[in-house]
Amino acid sequence: MPGFEVFGEEERREVGEVLETGVLFRYGFDAQRKGRWKARSFESEFAARLGVGHCHLVSSGTASLYVALSACGVGAGDHVIISPFTFVATFEAILGVGAVPVFADMDETLCLSPAAARAAITERTKAVAPVHMCGAMARIEDLKALCGEKGLTLVEDTCQAVGGSYKGRALGTFGRAGCFSFDAVKTITCGEGGAVVTDDPLVSQRADQYADHGHDHVGSDRGADGHPILGTNYRISELNAAVGLAQLRKLDRILAAQRANKKVLRDALSAYRDVRFREVPDPAGDTATFLCFFLPAEEDARKAAKELGKAGLEGVSYWYDNNWHYLRRWEHLKNLKSAARLPQHLYDSVPDYNKVDLSLSDRIMGKTVCVQIKVGWTEKDLAARVAAIRTVFGN
Ligand SMILES: Cc1ncc(COP(=O)(O)O)c(C=O)c1O
Repeated sequence: MPGFEVFGEEERREVGEVLETGVLFRYGFDAQRKGRWKARSFESEFAARLGVGHCHLVSSGTASLYVALSACGVGAGDHVIISPFTFVATFEAILGVGAVPVFADMDETLCLSPAAARAAITERTKAVAPVHMCGAMARIEDLKALCGEKGLTLVEDTCQAVGGSYKGRALGTFGRAGCFSFDAVKTITCGEGGAVVTDDPLVSQRADQYADHGHDHVGSDRGADGHPILGTNYRISELNAAVGLAQLRKLDRILAAQRANKKVLRDALSAYRDVRFREVPDPAGDTATFLCFFLPAEEDARKAAKELGKAGLEGVSYWYDNNWHYLRRWEHLKNLKSAARLPQHLYDSVPDYNKVDLSLSDRIMGKTVCVQIKVGWTEKDLAARVAAIRTVFGN
């Protein structure tokens, strides 16, 4: 997911323009900034690209989850259904707003199963937060319909799938809010940054206020007259936004390269009877940051991941054993280990994550291998990677 591979003159120019004015803050300083509004420009270009009414930039993808959940009114004691395959930030943000993460199985899309989400709904459920994992989409239409039927809020964690779509509609725009990350290893990066997108004017207004101490941003200099709500600081700086703006303008190029490179590896793996590919509900909208496939059994997948790495294929992940992305190894969550005490209601009401039955997810995750796709691979690089695949799976 490597926007950093294509850093160049464009990023330097955008950053240079900010440094020239000396205004690193996204608000105010109208006279000094010479009309340069990098965060604002990124927001309007990103919203236009996604076909969504509003975009608000924040300091990280994690911050975007905090801001989106808060702006949608998800808070203390609410239950939020998520998949056990994600990055830890998803459940951190849910706990952070005082809500309870409730895990439901994923399916062979490697994202939340609509059937499992339905079965997990109780009277305490407030929201469903599917994650478009490893660059491709959840069954987002079904999840949206489920939320509509049950009166639940849909918040999409699109941090790993910027530029993705389902039937032509941008991922992140199906829910009441969509969250994005532009951290150092994402498809487009600004070092640290994120975005909340929404078509709901109230969510947009709350996001804008909450991410900047509750300021209403009406009138001059952040509208410091009014604080309609309590907030905090999840602001992005103009420097980060400037890098992101240059990267956003390269997104189509990045996606095209990833898709072409992924196809080469996928074609090579298609030759093997034992290999089955992750289900992608709309292949045309896949961002192609990863190629994920299934082998018949856990031991086959663990062994293949190791051997592919040894044979020279970099960026191979066996997520089942990894403690960043899959619940099995999240001991800190299972034991609710926090630096400060959590609100008492969380100790009283979180499910015992050691006992929750996620056997379907375990079976799927156990047999999954994912390979990261790079933008800058040359024909020679690709040939070497195909050769690595043949070394492991046979000629
Ligand atoms: C699914 C998912 N959600 C949230 C995040 C958090 O994004 P950030 O690193 O920008 O805080 C990430 C980052 O890897 C992610 O993969």
